[in-house]
Order: sequence, then structure tokens, then C-alpha cells
Amino acid sequence: MFELNGKVAIVTGASSGIGRATARLFADQGASVVLAARGAAGLEALAREIRAEGGEALALAGDVKDEGFAHALVELATTEFGGLDIAFNNAGSVGEMGDTTGLSTQGWRDTLDTNLTSAYLGAKYQIPAMLERGAGSLIFTSTFVGYTVGMPGMAAYAASKAGVIGLTKALAAEFGPRGIRVNALLPGAADTPALTANTPEERVFVEGLHALKRIARPEEIAQSALYLASEASSFTTGAALLADGGVSINRL
Ligand SMILES: NC(=O)c1ccc[n+]([C@@H]2O[C@H](COP(=O)([O-])OP(=O)(O)OC[C@H]3O[C@@H](n4cnc5c(N)ncnc54)[C@H](OP(=O)(O)O)[C@@H]3O)[C@@H](O)[C@H]2O)c1
Repeated sequence: MFELNGKVAIVTGASSGIGRATARLFADQGASVVLAARGAAGLEALAREIRAEGGEALALAGDVKDEGFAHALVELATTEFGGLDIAFNNAGSVGEMGDTTGLSTQGWRDTLDTNLTSAYLGAKYQIPAMLERGAGSLIFTSTFVGYTVGMPGMAAYAASKAGVIGLTKALAAEFGPRGIRVNALLPGAADTPALTANTPEERVFVEGLHALKRIARPEEIAQSALYLASEASSFTTGAALLADGGVSINRL
């Protein structure tokens, strides 16, 4: 049910954190993976690791804000692995934070480009390739921030990631009749380099926001991505799937 044998998947943000854990899991489950991020070294290292364990992986470095890169990833998947079944559009960043009236307009635009326009660009090239196969699963990494929770100082991030949920629902409705499923994955705080920048006190604070009173391991979020990628979620589309340790419902 969760296996991905014979499937081809693109994973963006694959050099670190949630994307890295998910790429490994997809490969362990039998998928051929195309790995994407800006920095080539981390991607190449992961591709070598996966190949050493008998999997199939190719790395392509580039920026998800770049339309040519979105196209090139799909080209690589189709020319080298014969098609595309799964896309985990996960690369993203919190971008410029702080008092919203003090944000630079450029910072706002960069955050929307990185998190939201990139999602559109990914879908624009991934969906036609999936239609060739007659089926496919797109997954976008969003967040609880801006969906279930308003957080001061995170306006650009919240708007961009809530926009991803809107995009998810529109695409799910538009392409569902042709066999394409589209879902958003909403992690709680996960133990990735983005979070390790926090002080020990900040970390304790963040843990306490969650009902489970801890931060997720990236591998736990990867399991939810696998669910959405695989046949286990065959009747799930247009969903905003919280994998957030209860941060959205916790009040104490
Ligand atoms: N960690 C959390 O607590 C948390 C919670 C909710 C949602 N999320 C979301 O989960 C996703 C993954 O986050 P993470 O915590 O795993 O982050 P991470 O460890 O910092 O990894 C981010 C990945 O995205 C890549 N990336 C960033 N900007 C890119 C760009 N413009 N073009 C191409 N690749 C880019 C990075 O590689 P390069 O820098 O080499 O490009 C890296 O591979 C993000 O969308 C984030 O917003 C995270």
C-alpha cells in the first residue's frame, strides 16, 4: 500500500531536513528520485547514498523560483527515468520576518516567489508529465502558520504558505477528473537546520506549543509525505493534511 516500486518522484528541498528524509524514504520504498535544491554538494551526497543502497537517484541543482529549473527537473525525470508519478514540492524558507509594516517589499516578494510561485511553476510542468501517465500525486509543503494559527512577524511566510493551500485545492478540482491528486502537507515544528538556529530556551518554548510537547523528527513528516504519495491515500485529494503534533489545537 505504501510502496512506490516503479514510480518516479521529484523532491525539492532534498538536501536538508524534511525533503532529505522524504527523498530517502521514497527511494527506500522503491521510487526513482530526482533531487533538487540550490546547493549541489548536499544533493550529490544524498544521491550517492541512495545509489550505494541500491536505489536510483539523480541530482539537479537550481532555484525553485526559476521557471527553467522547474522545466528541467521534469525533463530529467522523463528522459532518465521514463516519466513522472510523484512531485514533493517542498523547498521553502521563512523569508523576511518581523513587524509587517517594516518588511521590505522585496523581502515580501522573495518569500512569495520562493514558497508560492515556485509551487505554481512546479505544477505547471509536472502535471502535463503526470497526465501522460494518466495519474499522479502532487504534494506541496505548507504549514500550520497562516492556516490554523496567526503568528506575529510571519506575514509573508503565512501568506505564501496559505496561498499554497489555495493552489492545492484549485489544482485538485481542475485535474482530479484526469487522475491527478493534489494535497498539501502541513508540518508542525520539525527538527531541521531552520529550527536548530533557535536558542535552548526558544526550543523549549516551541516544544511546549505542541500537544505532544516535542518537535518532530523530519522522518516523521516524511511518513506523511509517503502516505500522500502512495496508493494508501488513493481517495485523498485537495486536503490540507496536518502533521503538526497538535500545535493547531493545543491551548495549554
Ligand atoms: N522545519 C519546520 O519546522 C517546518 C514546519 C512547517 C513547514 N516547514 C516547511 O517545510 C519545508 C522544508 O523545510 P525544512 O525545515 O526541511 O528546511 P531546511 O532543512 O532548511 O531545508 C530546506 C531545503 O530547501 C532548499 N531550498 C530552499 N530555498 C530554495 C530555493 N529557492 N530553491 C531550491 N531549493 C531551495 C534547501 O537547499 P538550498 O539552500 O541548498 O537551496 C534545502 O534543501 C519548507 O517549505 C518549510 O517552509 C518546515
